[in-house]
Amino acid sequence: MATTLRLCCIFVLAFYAASLVIPSNCVGHFFLQKEHKPLFVFGDSLFDAGNNNYINTPKTAQANFWPYGETYFGYPTGRYTDGRQVPDFIAEYAKLPLIPPYLQPGLNNYVYGVNFASGGAGALNETHQALVIDLQTQLSYFKNVEKQLRQKLGYAQAKKLLSSAVYLFSIGSNDYIAPLQFNISKEFFESYSQEEFIGMVIGNITHVVKEIYKKGGRKFGFLSLGPIGCHPALLLFQPGKIGSCLDELTEMAQIHNKEILKVLHTLQIKLNGLRYSYFDFYTSMSERLNNPTKYGFKEGKKVCCGRGPYRAINNCGGKGPEKEYELCDNPSDYVFFDGGHPTERTNQQFSKLMWSGNSNFTWPCNIQELCGTL
Ligand SMILES: *[C@@H]1O[C@H](CO)[C@@H](O)[C@H](O)[C@H]1NC(C)=O
Ligand SMILES: *[C@@H]1O[C@H](CO)[C@@H](O)[C@H](O)[C@H]1NC(C)=O
Ligand SMILES: *[C@@H]1O[C@H](CO)[C@@H](O)[C@H](O)[C@H]1NC(C)=O
Ligand SMILES: *[C@@H]1O[C@H](CO)[C@@H](O)[C@H](O)[C@H]1NC(C)=O
Repeated sequence: MATTLRLCCIFVLAFYAASLVIPSNCVGHFFLQKEHKPLFVFGDSLFDAGNNNYINTPKTAQANFWPYGETYFGYPTGRYTDGRQVPDFIAEYAKLPLIPPYLQPGLNNYVYGVNFASGGAGALNETHQALVIDLQTQLSYFKNVEKQLRQKLGYAQAKKLLSSAVYLFSIGSNDYIAPLQFNISKEFFESYSQEEFIGMVIGNITHVVKEIYKKGGRKFGFLSLGPIGCHPALLLFQPGKIGSCLDELTEMAQIHNKEILKVLHTLQIKLNGLRYSYFDFYTSMSERLNNPTKYGFKEGKKVCCGRGPYRAINNCGGKGPEKEYELCDNPSDYVFFDGGHPTERTNQQFSKLMWSGNSNFTWPCNIQELCGTL
């Protein structure tokens, strides 16, 4: 099955590359470019490559200041880590350039894809409402891109391009975390049973996948939710119990992960040609938090940048009410860069598992198989 898919993808791409992107007399280019399949990125701060730089939101919801970006870029880009994130590595493995944020001024070429993700975003528009680009708005941006591609390339070619693309998602954590932080979403949250609430989050994600499918999207890559109740920032949440995980939160992530897998499996059966790749971020992260040295890290729960216990108070860069924060010497010794976000090194390890990992971590196929890159 994988072989058939690969051949099929290459045919589609070769066709689109030959007829559109590359001038037909440019044979050398044709062979170089035929493997490029666009990458469209949706989600939250694990994937935001700078969209929040361009929206009106507090500094605490942005990462466009030092020391974010210090390791790889040497300057802050808006990514919530010291360097690259998962979509950056996936783009590299797929031989694509870095995928730019949709809101970057002057951006008008979407042939390699574009990134819609926004730090703090959830699947529900009540999550950090008015401070982030929620998933439904990200979808509406995608529809703008689709329209523009259609105007440029024509309906059939735009659809071919969109069908060859991979759609990466990291979404849902904030829907469950935000009600702990903000009263307004707390009221909203508390008016539903846990089951109903998870059902709404899943329902909104499902809606987005289906809408992308209608526009031609076929290949979806999902990051599962992590053990969010054990992410360092959450270890500070229970007064008098500093260092213990918030188990209810982790439990919701587990239920969410089971449900989203069911949905993806069902969609793959119901929607002709749809394929998905699910990366078990939950287990990969739990293993590193619990056993950092096994993966080459010195610290699991203690983070590189922040303050307070575990340095997990999210004040990296000192933009909160307090200016003071600590910064480690070597981020690659740490699993987490700040209280909520992995270091570049962790992101790289995850990206490798997602791209080419075996079925213990990534199933039913990995992104490379989904891409059909040969
Ligand atoms: C939330 O999004 C839905 C679409 O999913 C929209 O109909 C609704 O108006 C939005 N609500 C708010 C308060 O923005
Ligand atoms: C949330 O509500 C509690 C009690 O209702 C109040 O003490 C607290 O100040 C509120 N917090 C915010 C951020 O509004
Ligand atoms: C999406 O979320 C909204 C709340 O933001 C909810 O009212 C709606 O029912 C959800 N949609 C689905 C299909 O679950
Ligand atoms: C998956 O993990 C198990 C247990 O750690 C291991 O024995 C097995 O070899 C792994 N599978 C693959 C395909 O590597």
